[in-house]
Amino acid sequence: MNLPPRKLLVFLSFFFFLECLILPTTLAGNLKFDFPSFTLRNLTLLGDSYLRNGVVGLTRELGVPSSSSGSVICNTPITFFDPETNITASFSTRFSFSINNINPNSYGDGLTFFLSPDNQTLGSPGGYLGLVNSSQLTKNKFVAVEIDTRLDSHFDDPNEHHVGLDIDSLNSIKTADPTLRGIDLKSGNLITAWIDYKNDQKNLNVSMSYSSFKPAKPILSVKIDLSSYLKEFMYVGFSASTEGSTELHLIEDWSFQTFGFRPARPRFHPHNVSDNSVTVTPVIPVSNSTNKHHNNLGLGLVIAGPAFFCIVFVVFGWVSVKKWKETKTDKSFKPELLTGPREFSYKELKSATKGFHSSRILGHGAFGTVYKAFFLGSGTISAVKRSKHTHEGKTEFLAELSIIASLRHKNLVQLQGWCAEKGELLLVYEFMPNGSLDEVLYQEPEQGMLLKWSQRYNIAMGTASVLTYLHQECEQQVIHRDIKTSNILLDGNFNPRLGDFGLARLMEHDKSPVSTLTAGTMGYLAPEYLQFGKATEKTDVFSYGVVILEVACGRRPIEKEPNSQKMVNLVDWVWGLYSEGKLIEAADKRLNGEFKEEEMRKLLLVGLSCANPDCMERPLMRRVLQILNGEAELLVVPKMKPCLTFSCSIPLSLEEIVSDSEEQTTASPLYELKIA
Ligand SMILES: *[C@@H]1O[C@H](CO)[C@@H](O)[C@H](O)[C@H]1NC(C)=O
Ligand SMILES: *[C@@H]1O[C@H](CO)[C@@H](O)[C@H](O)[C@H]1NC(C)=O
Ligand SMILES: *[C@@H]1O[C@H](CO)[C@@H](O)[C@H](O)[C@H]1NC(C)=O
Ligand SMILES: *[C@@H]1O[C@H](CO)[C@@H](O)[C@H](O)[C@H]1NC(C)=O
Ligand SMILES: *[C@@H]1O[C@H](CO)[C@@H](O)[C@H](O)[C@H]1NC(C)=O
Ligand SMILES: *[C@@H]1O[C@H](CO)[C@@H](O)[C@H](O)[C@H]1NC(C)=O
Ligand SMILES: *[C@@H]1O[C@H](CO)[C@@H](O)[C@H](O)[C@H]1NC(C)=O
Repeated sequence: MNLPPRKLLVFLSFFFFLECLILPTTLAGNLKFDFPSFTLRNLTLLGDSYLRNGVVGLTRELGVPSSSSGSVICNTPITFFDPETNITASFSTRFSFSINNINPNSYGDGLTFFLSPDNQTLGSPGGYLGLVNSSQLTKNKFVAVEIDTRLDSHFDDPNEHHVGLDIDSLNSIKTADPTLRGIDLKSGNLITAWIDYKNDQKNLNVSMSYSSFKPAKPILSVKIDLSSYLKEFMYVGFSASTEGSTELHLIEDWSFQTFGFRPARPRFHPHNVSDNSVTVTPVIPVSNSTNKHHNNLGLGLVIAGPAFFCIVFVVFGWVSVKKWKETKTDKSFKPELLTGPREFSYKELKSATKGFHSSRILGHGAFGTVYKAFFLGSGTISAVKRSKHTHEGKTEFLAELSIIASLRHKNLVQLQGWCAEKGELLLVYEFMPNGSLDEVLYQEPEQGMLLKWSQRYNIAMGTASVLTYLHQECEQQVIHRDIKTSNILLDGNFNPRLGDFGLARLMEHDKSPVSTLTAGTMGYLAPEYLQFGKATEKTDVFSYGVVILEVACGRRPIEKEPNSQKMVNLVDWVWGLYSEGKLIEAADKRLNGEFKEEEMRKLLLVGLSCANPDCMERPLMRRVLQILNGEAELLVVPKMKPCLTFSCSIPLSLEEIVSDSEEQTTASPLYELKIA
């Protein structure tokens, strides 16, 4: 089912809505919810917090230092303790947050995740982190994990960058410094946090990562028995504060669940809680003759309820698909659609980039300069590409742009808008905090992070998925023409996001590839593209093959052989090892063998199939995706690399290309745009 993203979202949110309804009734007591993005329906916003574009901001968004506090609380009371069985729940939560600052160096104070018996928790700004105020310190009960960015000696803070567990007081029981696990709270990056409490272990862990993969080791681990603090009903939420700073605290998604209660109990026990929420407290499952009747009735409800919703779900799904099929035929794209990209005013972009200030430059590309833009109104960060060309054919440009703008895929860098004013052309994109794949892949080891195998495989799959979309699933086939590691950007969770799609076509219509060949592109071009200059989906497949070989081997497409001047082509090198039956030796040495051999072999073989010199032998992207996610068999790769002969020679020698590609490594490739 290829629903367009917006429909899919409606579809999914309906599913989540159902999940919220079904889960608590079938797993009495254990509750689970998931907010992939936020809506007001289930949340209470207190103080200065606000909701914008599905993201909760907890403190006031001002460019000038201010003091502010805010909180957001899930309306559903959650059962943490069952007085009848004396069972205290375990819980786990995951949320993504970012701490941004408009004015560097004015940090403070931080945010908390809290559990509280009160659904109106809101405290003072400053060191109170919006959790309590001075007069309530003894009165207000809470269990909180603080993510603190200011040293507040009043509360015995160890430093201005720590995570701590707080119970009924802001003097933490235990703190830890996330920098020890490579997390910089003030980096502005999206950080995913996990908080797990297991009542049987009497242990609470806090973990954090820039990616969606939970690290093996927690940042903070506290031996503590929370059973005397976890009440029968509590509310969960977030709070944050500033004091004379401009820090922004954003929460982007959140899921929460309790577990540990006994499973399904057929009898429903109505509670005194005034609202008719879905929380159902467990009752001891005594099955004796006096209440057997109830049991049967209850059991009926438990089975009939979900079954009913399943039917509703299927009907809803069917209607959605039908409706979508109808709207699909309506091809007119309206750039002014509320959810789609919009036109920005020049003034707006100018102020967001501090007048295109040099300190805001992220990189340079063929299209022009890329700036980091901070929009005060929404508290969001974007990347703005400013063309250095003057564009006469504005109408034609906008027509092309509307095609690009209509593309939606989770692995595309989304175009947020454009501006064609004052003879200038500006494009506004999502900002990608982790830069480009080549930067991360070839980072000096001492600079920290090495992409793990699971992340690499995920990058290969995500890229295959978006290319399948561009080639085979969107209304008008899009050939990317310039797939390479510097055009694959990484979002906060290291998911791949393909950039610059369609721009090559937008910029240059009929130039041959070689006449516009830019540094660092050469190793990615299919032989027939160099020969005939025609980009097809198969030339994209070739470039994709080179990219995934790079990801698997950690080597550039064309690289100097160590201790010699010889240039090595990555495809030839891997194919050579394959011929000798030593394929697995191509694996990136820096991984230290920490990868699944079967997946590594698969990725390398798919890479070779895609980089087959004979375009007829290359698989389509859909097939590649199926192979990678295990739905299709691997293709047979010939033991020897097939030879293709062309009558005319390529007008560049390998040495020339390499001197180019060395320049490339010194230039800042972030957000670079190259024309093939
Ligand atoms: C969200 O709100 C809806 C309707 O008010 C309710 O049925 C659902 O259970 C709520 N979900 C959560 C997670 O609180
Ligand atoms: C807060 O809880 C009280 C009952 O304790 C309830 O009456 C009230 O509606 C709740 N408020 C919100 C916003 O959920
Ligand atoms: C629960 O604890 C209370 C007080 O400690 C005790 O009186 C009661 O018997 C316990 N109930 C169960 C089911 O263990
Ligand atoms: C503390 O909170 C209470 C109630 O929320 C409020 O009335 C009081 O003014 C607050 N005190 C301070 C010092 O902020
Ligand atoms: C916390 O982390 C420790 C060490 O990694 C682990 O042994 C323990 O099971 C974890 N506890 C929870 C509640 O996840
Ligand atoms: C429910 O209400 C009854 C009587 O109104 C009261 O005795 C009991 O303590 C209440 N239970 C809870 C959990 O509030
Ligand atoms: C059934 O349960 C009730 C209350 O839990 C108890 O009083 C009664 O003795 C039980 N009857 C049998 C037959 O177990």
